[in-house]
Amino acid sequence: MHYTNAILAVLGFVALAEASKHYMFIGTFSTKFLYTAVYEDTTGTLALYSKHPTNEALSWITLSHDKTNLYGTDWNATTPSFVTLSVDMDLVIHYKNKLVGDSDCTGGKSAFITANRLPPYTVYGTYLGGNAKCETVMSVNDSGLLHSVVQEFEYVSGSAVQGLSFSNGSRYLYSADGGNNALWVHDMSQTDGSIKSLWRLPMPEEKANPRRVVSHPADAYIYTVLEGTSEVAQCLTSNTGELYLLKQTYPLIGDGEKPSDFWASEIALSATGKYLWASNRARYADGKGYLSAIEVTAEGQLKKQLFLTNTANNGGFPNTIAPSPFDDGIVVVTDNSTGFVQIWKMDDDEKGAQMIAHLDIPDGGCCANAVWYD
Ligand SMILES: *[C@@H]1O[C@H](CO)[C@@H](O)[C@H](O)[C@H]1NC(C)=O
Ligand SMILES: *[C@@H]1O[C@H](CO)[C@@H](O)[C@H](O)[C@H]1NC(C)=O
Ligand SMILES: *[C@@H]1O[C@H](CO)[C@@H](O)[C@H](O)[C@H]1NC(C)=O
Ligand SMILES: *[C@@H]1O[C@H](CO)[C@@H](O)[C@H](O)[C@H]1NC(C)=O
Repeated sequence: MHYTNAILAVLGFVALAEASKHYMFIGTFSTKFLYTAVYEDTTGTLALYSKHPTNEALSWITLSHDKTNLYGTDWNATTPSFVTLSVDMDLVIHYKNKLVGDSDCTGGKSAFITANRLPPYTVYGTYLGGNAKCETVMSVNDSGLLHSVVQEFEYVSGSAVQGLSFSNGSRYLYSADGGNNALWVHDMSQTDGSIKSLWRLPMPEEKANPRRVVSHPADAYIYTVLEGTSEVAQCLTSNTGELYLLKQTYPLIGDGEKPSDFWASEIALSATGKYLWASNRARYADGKGYLSAIEVTAEGQLKKQLFLTNTANNGGFPNTIAPSPFDDGIVVVTDNSTGFVQIWKMDDDEKGAQMIAHLDIPDGGCCANAVWYD
């Protein structure tokens, strides 16, 4: 028994050491499991590696700065909560603990979570549905487990923030407030991670509804995806925390299509910052979502939209994208319309992207978002 385990552990370690294999974690909306999948770039295959009980259905997951913990939103909780799972060396996931969010936002769901890459490694959770104006700032202990609520921050009545991003040095926190149709800038305390409002930028178009925000590491630009108008927009930032929206936007629907048939989903920067990937979801079962990429300059300015291509399906709730850490042209796309993850690769001429690997996980809850481990 022990002998077998030891051999398996050694084999597991050898497998992880192979550079052509890349691992990712995948959350779900309504099963108490989390999945590990492995993508092998020499053969272009995507396979299920392992399945782990998690106690909760985790609809958004994010890795800690050192990849030893995953933080997740407890999608099914009646009282919105945030969860820690530890990640072993052999990529086994263990449920650890959870923190209950702000009682002022009970009735909503915990929707999004992200972790500061820099000390004090605070974790930020936001809400959706019902009264969702809250943001919970959580400390972690020395093992990286969610430890205590540092701050129950409240935006304004009607707010619902589904996207957060840190400036390069974690001096500012940017928020995409779809409920209030605005972007926010907050000053972050370097000591306890608590936040203070600095700037609110209302979107010029009604119901544009920013869903995600991503800041470029050179700290001159941030981007947002507008769920209501199916567009990507960019803002110039100032070193004192102001935001200025630039006029040009990038469409995530085709000519003649109506934004009301879609609810734009994600944006994410590729590993070296060469591209901003974006995705859209179709609201109807027989519709198709979209995948797009926009060229980014070294300073972080968005330039040319390279392509806009249909995804395999409507995307269900997520159609999330996660660019790979090893290739700017590779992203994982998740879909819960039937439950699958796919690897998409940009063409060499940057004029399109193709689906190169598909993995069904038809368990009735998969797939929420995916995060690459390596
Ligand atoms: C979700 O909540 C319902 C009602 O409390 C419960 O019956 C179900 O088991 C829960 N599912 C998950 C995945 O937590
Ligand atoms: C972090 O908290 C967990 C749960 O409370 C505890 O088991 C662990 O020992 C703590 N780690 C440290 C380093 O304090
Ligand atoms: C981000 O900040 C780090 C540390 O301050 C700096 O070394 C790096 O150059 C910055 N990144 C960019 C793209 O400016
Ligand atoms: C996708 O997940 C959402 C959120 O839980 C759920 O409402 C929807 O029914 C799921 N889609 C399918 C086809 O199961």
